[in-house]
Amino acid sequence: MSGKFSSVYLWRCTSCGSKHYGKNPPFNCKKCGLESNRFILIPPGNIEINFNMPRLNNILYLVGSILDKKANAMCCSSVTQLTFSPPLIAASINKNTLTHDFVKERGTFSICLLGRNQSEMAHYFGRNSGRQIDKFESYTYRLSNTGNPFVEGCPGYFDCKVDHQATVELDTHTVFVGEILDAEVGSMEAPLTYLDYQKEMCMVH
Ligand SMILES: Cc1cc2nc3c(=O)[nH]c(=O)nc-3n(C[C@H](O)[C@H](O)[C@H](O)COP(=O)(O)O)c2cc1C
Repeated sequence: MSGKFSSVYLWRCTSCGSKHYGKNPPFNCKKCGLESNRFILIPPGNIEINFNMPRLNNILYLVGSILDKKANAMCCSSVTQLTFSPPLIAASINKNTLTHDFVKERGTFSICLLGRNQSEMAHYFGRNSGRQIDKFESYTYRLSNTGNPFVEGCPGYFDCKVDHQATVELDTHTVFVGEILDAEVGSMEAPLTYLDYQKEMCMVH
């Protein structure tokens, strides 16, 4: 591995996610105060990967889903357009998320665009799981035509149906291929990028 980060060690606070460079972890986390023994070392060989991956998955979205009348949404960076006609997208979703179970079972999902000033929202939906909390106690939504949540306040939406044949199973994630059935454009504001999010929330995902 080459590159400007390859000769230093990257530590990550297990409580707040803050990062620290140096041979040793800091005495206390500058952000949340956690002791040094609660830092984990990100292996040197992975430093460039850690830094560059967010630049690949540039834009952040919310993936909305519903099952048995329980609505949920999660932050997702691994969303990409596959073809323009037919309008196909892919979303790579970790198998341990509630969203994964809902999308797999129901076969439909929504994609909510995030605007440049919605880092807090990305953080909320990306750092909490619907397995532990009802995320819609703090946000409101309306139902799309396929019955999935469109989170209020987002600048645009897609409503998608899973193409089960095209969907790919990886070890940790399922790459759901979705056909876009419907879309709504709210405003033309700039999208929230992963790098904007990282700068504002000081986090390593
Ligand atoms: C900035 C950001 C990007 C994320 N991107 C993805 C992603 O592309 N795929 C994924 O499976 N999880 C991603 N996550 C993690 C999920 O949002 C997180 O595991 C969430 O708690 C799952 O919620 P759920 O269990 O309610 O579905 C991301 C989180 C953040 C903060």
